[in-house]
Amino acid sequence: MCGIYGLVKRGEGDCSGPVLEALRRLEYRGYDSAGIAVLTGNGMTVRKRGGRLARLAGALGRPLVGTAAIGHTRWATHGAPTDRNAHPHRDCDGKLAVVHNGIVENFRALRERLQRDGHRFASETDTEVIAHLIERERSRGVPLAEAVRRTLRHIRGTYALAVVDAGSPGELVAARNSSPLIVGVAEGAAYVASDAAALLVHTRRVVYLQDGQIARLTPGNLRVMRGDGSAVRHRSDELPWSADEASKGGWPHFMAKEIYEEADAVRSACAGRLSPSGAVKLGGLESVLPRLERTERVTLTACGTAYHAALIGAYLMQEYAGADARAELASELRYRRWARQDTSALFAVSQSGETADTLGALEHARAHGHLTCGIVNVVGSSIARMTDAGVYTHSGPEIGVASTKAFTGQVAALLLATLMLGRARGALSAGRARDIARALSRAPAQMDTLFARRRSVERAARTLARADHALFLGRWLSYPVALEGALKLKEVSYVHAEGYGAGEMKHGPIALVDRNMPVVVVAPRDRVYEKTLSNIQEVKARGGRVIAVGTAGDRHLQGLADAFIGIPRTHEAVAPLLATVPLHWMAYRAGVLRGKDVDKPRNLAKSVTVE
Ligand code: M6R
Repeated sequence: MCGIYGLVKRGEGDCSGPVLEALRRLEYRGYDSAGIAVLTGNGMTVRKRGGRLARLAGALGRPLVGTAAIGHTRWATHGAPTDRNAHPHRDCDGKLAVVHNGIVENFRALRERLQRDGHRFASETDTEVIAHLIERERSRGVPLAEAVRRTLRHIRGTYALAVVDAGSPGELVAARNSSPLIVGVAEGAAYVASDAAALLVHTRRVVYLQDGQIARLTPGNLRVMRGDGSAVRHRSDELPWSADEASKGGWPHFMAKEIYEEADAVRSACAGRLSPSGAVKLGGLESVLPRLERTERVTLTACGTAYHAALIGAYLMQEYAGADARAELASELRYRRWARQDTSALFAVSQSGETADTLGALEHARAHGHLTCGIVNVVGSSIARMTDAGVYTHSGPEIGVASTKAFTGQVAALLLATLMLGRARGALSAGRARDIARALSRAPAQMDTLFARRRSVERAARTLARADHALFLGRWLSYPVALEGALKLKEVSYVHAEGYGAGEMKHGPIALVDRNMPVVVVAPRDRVYEKTLSNIQEVKARGGRVIAVGTAGDRHLQGLADAFIGIPRTHEAVAPLLATVPLHWMAYRAGVLRGKDVDKPRNLAKSVTVE
């Protein structure tokens, strides 16, 4: 949570312009307050405001000119989102400033000690102790990077931080521990940011800082050291995305653009990996394939939308790879007792690759000797680096806080992994693999056609936008799809929505059904189709209004439901990819119709790097 950004450049120039532009790209990470500090010829200027970035931009007036600057967009953890608590935070003399993403767990004890030593605090945040600890080192004549290194020895918790000091106008110091941080170096300048999206306008050559590393950035130059002060020979990487890919490209919202890109997410996940014969080549899993063949149990873990993809992955692996697979919420799994089982594998599914709970579950699995694999979108992210093997989903940058195309990319990657495993374990015949592969390669074109059928989805969105509550039902592979539809609707429209297994409805939620509660049922022609129809009858018998998502041309379902959204006919293993798109679009439109900020829903953040 929170986005941080910093720059240092040769000579003086406009700093507030680039910082605001970068914060706009990082705003999805948190957006309840924002701030900037610029090192000017005669000291430091700091501006910060509670509320959206636009408030800060409005407060700036003329561009702030200087040699170095840091900026922050916040998702509050300690202290309300007020002007005072917005970052950057300063030392007693206002000479140095810090922006921070993470949590200083021992801040109370540190603060009390610093206050006893005469330090004056201006905010309620945990971050401010960092500024005062650095100040203490600086007052002893310690150079800035070394002062930061010594300070971090006192900090317990997570951080990505950037520091500037009016006493060192030509440098910026950054450090990370369990929160993402990327450095970009260009001619005569250097940059640091929480996310590559903020660096792409400057450079595609980046250095991913590792946990415990401290970086000293000067114009065009970077030096990295470890926590013990030893130097690190850093390696630079080329970002796989362009600045254009991280922009709205004419769409009114990132969410709309990203739903439209769901078909491309499937294309990219499959490109160069899937052959029409059903053979799958996932380079990132090949080295561990012999272990996966012997694996007795596969656990897929994730949070939020990625958990819904994991659930689909578990069902697919059970059915087509002959694996004892299950999906677990990472926030629960990480605190449960596990038997040590060297024949188990854990798949961590994550768009950002930085989700704290998923990382926690992953660490737990490693400690228990499990093989660990990642299904990750962001290249070089923590989960990608921590796992023994993995598959990149290649969905491109996802900026909308509500995850859409990343989900589709995850489901496609999990289906590929299932095919590969199923064939390797001898659980899937060549014929069945070929049928699924053909359906999967046809899916992107079929998904494109869904946009032409937006009228029926629009009608459903209008119904949902007027409702206070909604129920989403599905069975087997459509159950996680229903969960995803409900999560998306509540996230972006604030309509209360529940996802349920359609068969589970009669065990409680049926009590809620009346004509005021729309019931969205996902019922493609698959093995549980008839059962789902019975559940629809149960809803109808109680006066419920059904919006059905089913196979195009299904007259029976169409006749039963009050509204019908058709998806092209496909293999049952591929149906979740097609059924999700209208649900995502429905949620998006309901959010827009209710006047909500669909790209940045209240209280949320894109990358949840705290527990
Ligand atoms: O980056 P991750 O895929 O690990 O994120 C997991 C969840 O935080 C994320 O899917 C969240 O639930 C989204 N807001 C869903 O739209």
